[in-house]
Amino acid sequence: MEELKIDFNQLLKKAQDASKNSYSPYSKFAVGAACLFEDGKIYLGSNIENASYGLGLCAERNALSSALCDGEKSQLVAIAVFSPNQKHCLPCGACLQWLSEFSVMNGVHYDLQVVLETDNGLKIYKLSELLPHSFNFE
Ligand code: THU
Repeated sequence: MEELKIDFNQLLKKAQDASKNSYSPYSKFAVGAACLFEDGKIYLGSNIENASYGLGLCAERNALSSALCDGEKSQLVAIAVFSPNQKHCLPCGACLQWLSEFSVMNGVHYDLQVVLETDNGLKIYKLSELLPHSFNFE
């Protein structure tokens, strides 16, 4: 697949919008995520916490679930993650594993991009930098 022209600033802005819908009364740490697919569609997610703390859901996995539940079939190419509480808010290990799951489509691997905000503008990682070795069935 050819590299798509991605508007990373727009994707980060969508993640910022999503963070406004965070339900995080326990940690008070809001997170928003925006997933971009090859067909141009963008899906949003925010973190949703629970009084039973361990049941909280991360923004990234909520965004991915939203896309899958909507029937999205094209390749995931990028995800932006934003927190108003902390710059350079990296996806947790569980979310990286989820992202890894959707980096392969029809046996073809795509090294998707992870977009974050830093004090010096955007920082864009390849998933392989953040999770060089994921679990998968060979
Ligand atoms: N959180 C996310 O939404 N994404 C991550 O990748 C890491 C952490 C959320 C979970 C919890 O609601 C809050 O941030 C503090 O851990």
